[in-house]
Amino acid sequence: MGTVIELKDVTYNYPLTSRPAIKNLNLKIEEGKFYGVIGANGSGKTTLCALMRGFAPSFYQGELKGEVLVDGKSTLLYGPGELALRIGFAFQNPFNQISGVKDTVFEEIAFGLENFGTPVDEIEDRVVDVMRQTKIESLAMKNPFEISGGQQQRLALASVLALNPSIFVIDEPTSQLDPEGTESVFEIIEMLKKQKKTIVLVEHKVDLLAEFADEIMVFKGGEMIRFGDKQSILSDLSLEEQGVQLPQYAVLGGQLMQRGVALDYIPITEAQALEVIGKAVQKGGK
Ligand SMILES: Nc1ncnc2c1ncn2[C@@H]1O[C@H](COP(=O)(O)OP(=O)(O)O)[C@@H](O)[C@H]1O
Ligand SMILES: [Mg+2]
Repeated sequence: MGTVIELKDVTYNYPLTSRPAIKNLNLKIEEGKFYGVIGANGSGKTTLCALMRGFAPSFYQGELKGEVLVDGKSTLLYGPGELALRIGFAFQNPFNQISGVKDTVFEEIAFGLENFGTPVDEIEDRVVDVMRQTKIESLAMKNPFEISGGQQQRLALASVLALNPSIFVIDEPTSQLDPEGTESVFEIIEMLKKQKKTIVLVEHKVDLLAEFADEIMVFKGGEMIRFGDKQSILSDLSLEEQGVQLPQYAVLGGQLMQRGVALDYIPITEAQALEVIGKAVQKGGK
């Protein structure tokens, strides 16, 4: 599997700021992997997304040191719109994604395809297809601004899916959603994972990352303080002292250990917790 996005010694400042939003970042994103991004507010997660998608610096301006490469080519060398077909980008607030110029969900999804000159009969097929995948067929004729937050988030993902990019950069899609809305968004993300898409997902719900992600990046004050496979990062109890929220099963595992229960390892998912606590109970009973 090849590298699809690479950041080389990237330091980025928004205009008129003295403190960089991203500092000395080196990172490789491999094709087909699912990366979870966590960190406190203001730690640089959204800026990372904007750098990968080329919005920083092209849209935000500011100063970029180092290089952001997509398929080996600097984002500075891509034409406007060119990266949109390679990297699907979903904003934190789906409101920002909705064009505001279309009256129905159907037309809204078609809008992006029209902009890229897709033939009309193909547009209809694609729109129907992604509405089915994101389970919003029944909303086809609704106004995009008159559907629920969870439905808008699915619409935003559907609009991105319609362009069929192979990389998805998704910024906190569930932060404003209830558990049901969150589940419906994660169903879409699971589908993308099954389709072997490359996924970079900023998400505070670490329990869901523990289930679905492959790799985890932890940001703090503009720096990536940890990067590795989810098992090693999300079971690292020392991260709690750094203000990083760990999965509920890891926290529970840590508390059991403190109480003298010898667990084989710190679990990060429910299945792991059942396995390792079950084992410890059996041993204890003998
Ligand atoms: N458009 C902007 N102009 C100036 N500073 C910004 C802008 N957007 C974000 N920042 C600053 O950059 C830093 C990182 O922000 P951000 O990437 O949005 O963090 P996160 O997504 O982790 O909350 C913060 O200090 C924030 O105040
Ligand atoms: Mg953010």
